[in-house]
Amino acid sequence: MVNTEKFIQQAVEEIRREAGDRTVVIALSGGVDSSVCAALAALAIGNQLHPIYVDTGLMRKGETDRIRELFGHLDLTVVDAEEEFLAALEGVTDPEEKRKAIGERFIRVFEREALTTGATVLLQGTIYPDRIESEGGIKSHHNVGGMPLECAFEQVIEPLRDLYKDEVREVAGALGLPKEIQHRMPFPGPGLAVRVLGEVTKEKVEVVREANAIVEQELVEAFAPWQCLAALVGLGTGVKGDVRLHGWIVSVRAVNSRDGMTADPLELPFEVLARIASRCTAEIPGVARVVYDVTPKPPATIEYE
Ligand code: XMP
Repeated sequence: MVNTEKFIQQAVEEIRREAGDRTVVIALSGGVDSSVCAALAALAIGNQLHPIYVDTGLMRKGETDRIRELFGHLDLTVVDAEEEFLAALEGVTDPEEKRKAIGERFIRVFEREALTTGATVLLQGTIYPDRIESEGGIKSHHNVGGMPLECAFEQVIEPLRDLYKDEVREVAGALGLPKEIQHRMPFPGPGLAVRVLGEVTKEKVEVVREANAIVEQELVEAFAPWQCLAALVGLGTGVKGDVRLHGWIVSVRAVNSRDGMTADPLELPFEVLARIASRCTAEIPGVARVVYDVTPKPPATIEYE
């Protein structure tokens, strides 16, 4: 990207030109990409924009409330779709099947809501690495490639299609979005579902949501990782009080990266890891042990599925 101001000016012009006088919807996730897109569109077309946030029940702790606070001044629709998503995931254990089930459900819910606004144009925060990974067939991103979402609309606008994540963050800063959004860690479209190995249930999502919150509290400010997370990787024995229990094994991941294509684990101080382990086992019923994943990408991926 040559120049942030120039990019903003061109993107605003592009959105205005492409949208014309049509109503535009965007699926807002609270991540930096969709937030920047929504902010650009708000500048370009004002109240022709209808942002829709689908609460899949697979979001991080407090995410939905924060979205309301941050985007409530726009004409925001919040859809509570947790039950629909959990139902779609029942019995699904294969990672790709899970992604597909979530992707399809997302599209259904989003289309349903979008069409009630009368929108004919879809704005998407697809960035360059999303396109590359999807085109290369590495995995199915639920926001791009092969999915019928685009079909319901006359047109799709993707103003960030040539940008890398760090460039999107620069644009966020220049647009005056809150620091919290500008520096927001990437969060996968399928949400916490890819941080639960095997079948996703409400109970597992609740456990992994709490573990993710603890990991973020301990690491985000203190170490500014490119991304950090917790995943439920299986069951193991533990002992709480004097009772032996079969509990969850939480794996913690904290990595640095430029664009998510490669990643290196952070060399975290032992006392920090020990505090995460003791908080997770003490604060989350059912967690028996905590491990730290030191595998770079490649050969491992950042997420667990
Ligand atoms: P992996 O696990 O492939 O992840 O090393 C690389 C980066 O991409 C994020 N990720 C996703 N983002 N939809 C997204 O929008 C997805 O389906 C998806 N899967 C992974 C992941 O969090 C990491 O930052």
